[in-house]
Amino acid sequence: MIVQQKHFRTIWFKSSSSDTVCIIDQRPLPHQFIIEEIATINEMIIAIKEMHLRGAGLIGAAAGYGMYLAVLEAEKEKAFDISLQSSAKKLIDSRPTAVNLIWAVNRQLQAISKVSSVDEKKTVARNMAITIADEDAAFCKSIGEHGVKIIEAISHKKQGDTVNILTHCNAGWLAFVDYGSATAPIYEAFKRGVKIHVWVDETRPRNQGASLTAWELLNAGVPHTIIADNTGGHLMQHGMVDMVIVGADRVTRAGDAANKIGTYLKALAAKDNGIPFYVALPSSTFDWKITDGVKEIPIEERDAEEVKYITGLCNNELKKVLITPLNSNASNFGFDVTPARLIRGFITERGVCEATEQSIVSLFPEKVAK
Ligand code: MRU
Repeated sequence: MIVQQKHFRTIWFKSSSSDTVCIIDQRPLPHQFIIEEIATINEMIIAIKEMHLRGAGLIGAAAGYGMYLAVLEAEKEKAFDISLQSSAKKLIDSRPTAVNLIWAVNRQLQAISKVSSVDEKKTVARNMAITIADEDAAFCKSIGEHGVKIIEAISHKKQGDTVNILTHCNAGWLAFVDYGSATAPIYEAFKRGVKIHVWVDETRPRNQGASLTAWELLNAGVPHTIIADNTGGHLMQHGMVDMVIVGADRVTRAGDAANKIGTYLKALAAKDNGIPFYVALPSSTFDWKITDGVKEIPIEERDAEEVKYITGLCNNELKKVLITPLNSNASNFGFDVTPARLIRGFITERGVCEATEQSIVSLFPEKVAK
């Protein structure tokens, strides 16, 4: 994405000879654009846990870079393998719902285990971190190319009239290495001149929609309107939404999709109003080992403070303010699961499929259950 006239990815090595990893600190956005430098595995774990960076694809890429930093750390220890395994576990435990994290850690562990000297392990881990990031960007680009056909078909049906797309949370450039998943078809449609408008759910409690998706769309010049989280149903009843596209943090092989809390309610409203509800994801977000999303996907519970306080700009300074009675209890479930029956289709890097195991594995035949 272009920010301040410069192309940025969301994670990169400071230079080809540097071990420092650069990320965009997402916490002060949209008000401040700050690049954070990460030099140790512990700093990377904190960045993931405390959401300096976030979003399934980017968490996966960060885990890839984190494992490279873990190798550098293990090199300093007497017991290389114990140190590496311990870092891998800490990374996996840093956030539970997005499966991309475990997927990237395991991919790194496998690659690192194939070579024996520490120097080789460093090279392999560094290359793998870059490969995971490059793949993420390429897959999101393909998601855009496949998904745009759905938007173009709706536009055609509406004889070129504006296509209104509702999205929840931030499954955008900031949630991946580049392009985003849910936003990739939107950016592609905009590029091709299709008339579009995006309804952006604010996405309480952390407001990833209002703060991040809106900022991205504004940067790209895509027409959009931020709405309070509970507005979608009303808009759908009044014909003001043509389709919903959301991202995902983990999708079962049967097509149940975990995404940011509130997604399920949007899917129910979409079903009730006959509006197509699509989930866009790279294959790294499928959890091929599970089928029942409600029972099997771990749902992160975060600090209740995120519900009770809100951060924003006041007199040009970022301020955190209490919006609830100080002594009320609050709970903060980060994600919910939308059952496959409510999903019209998945937009993946290999194409679009229905939300059934049969249709999903028709795109990914190597994952057919043996
Ligand atoms: O808690 P977050 O911000 O890391 O949640 C992830 C998300 O942004 C959403 O659930 C998103 O729609 C899917 S991530 C590609």
